[in-house]
Amino acid sequence: MKSSILAGIFATGAVAQSGAWGQCGGNNFQGPTTCVSGYSCVYQNDWYSQCLPGAAPTPTTMKTSTTAKPSTSTAKPSTTTSSAPATSTSPAPGKGKFKWFGVNEAGAEFGEGTLPGIWGKHFTFPSTSAIQTLINDGYNTFRVGFLMERLVPNQLTSSFDDAYLKNLTETVNFITNAGSWAVIDPHNYGRYYGKIMTDTTAFGAFWTKLAKQFASNPRVVFDTNNEYNTMDQTLVLNLNQAAINAIRGAGATNYIFVEGNAWSGAWSWNVTNTNMVALTDPQNKLIYEMHQYLDSDSSGTSELCVSADIGVQRVIGATNWLRANGKMGIIGEYAGGANSQCLAAVTKLLDHLKENSDVWTGAIWWAGGPWWDKYMYSFEPPSGTGYVNYNTLLKKYVA
Ligand SMILES: *[C@@H]1O[C@H](CO)[C@@H](O)[C@H](O)[C@H]1NC(C)=O
Ligand SMILES: *[C@@H]1O[C@H](CO)[C@@H](O)[C@H](O)[C@H]1NC(C)=O
Repeated sequence: MKSSILAGIFATGAVAQSGAWGQCGGNNFQGPTTCVSGYSCVYQNDWYSQCLPGAAPTPTTMKTSTTAKPSTSTAKPSTTTSSAPATSTSPAPGKGKFKWFGVNEAGAEFGEGTLPGIWGKHFTFPSTSAIQTLINDGYNTFRVGFLMERLVPNQLTSSFDDAYLKNLTETVNFITNAGSWAVIDPHNYGRYYGKIMTDTTAFGAFWTKLAKQFASNPRVVFDTNNEYNTMDQTLVLNLNQAAINAIRGAGATNYIFVEGNAWSGAWSWNVTNTNMVALTDPQNKLIYEMHQYLDSDSSGTSELCVSADIGVQRVIGATNWLRANGKMGIIGEYAGGANSQCLAAVTKLLDHLKENSDVWTGAIWWAGGPWWDKYMYSFEPPSGTGYVNYNTLLKKYVA
């Protein structure tokens, strides 16, 4: 969720205070950093702070990362105008079908700067009625973020927090009871309480417990961790393999999404994450989850897309890597701003994935969730900016 910043929205700088649920901070954020009465600015991650109800929490020292996401493209933003997007209702081109096509559901991982935090104040769970609307639209996959520190508050090997597990399970069961897929996403960037996880045995113990919880539900997909980054490359491999071994050791035959280093970026996968080819799974149900944004540095922090072709250019190397190595992939996060160039770029990206559905199994938009307010990519029905501008287009690609 390195993507949740509203850079440039308040470029004119006239607003003095951010409103309820509004953004109030984050790297490059230009807007107001104080909140209206009754709300306080709560750090969520380095790229997003949000006005949440109530008084300010105690200050935190738990920033997960201070390094900026590396620049990923030297391309200058294109000035050419894009072709008309998304107005026709004809089916999406391309052979093949997506197995998984849906929306990330954010909320339970919010407020990572306040642990464990208070439900309804620092974090929340996705709205089942909003998910139902998306299911009615045809989406079949929901990636549900949560924080490992809330599920296992003491140490990786300790027992679950029952109340948090109950709420997570209710969300998951709502999704899978409707016949959709729930991707369980520890949104932890390879870290626990801000420290890179180096104990693969303890990480495995965490996954043994979690896999046992959901092993009987084949519509649950296990995502080992969100966006490993700025970590040792072999450690990323070993953490993924420890999770796979633990999940299979627990008797679970569910699909497993593995993620790579460098925020699991598709654009650099063929350079950075080539060692991930060595992952093994006795069930042969591994899917390589990569993320790809379309703004200048692939960070998902701008409404702008570099060009209509940028998505294809950034994933083509990953497409070739998957095929050359006999692997299957999914774009687990992507998005674009509400403008014609981004609509064209998202269209071309999805067309490319679909045309290469021998290796690409689907895509998951970043992001739905009840607390996004006016966030540029919000896919929360009925009024999220992304939902309003992209639902017509994305619906053409549903499985
Ligand atoms: C779980 O959700 C209920 C509301 O359904 C809420 O009252 C409770 O505080 C939540 N607990 C946690 C730990 O998320
Ligand atoms: C790696 O992937 C990038 C991005 O898709 C691509 O531009 C580049 O040509 C690829 N390099 C190799 C060696 O495949």
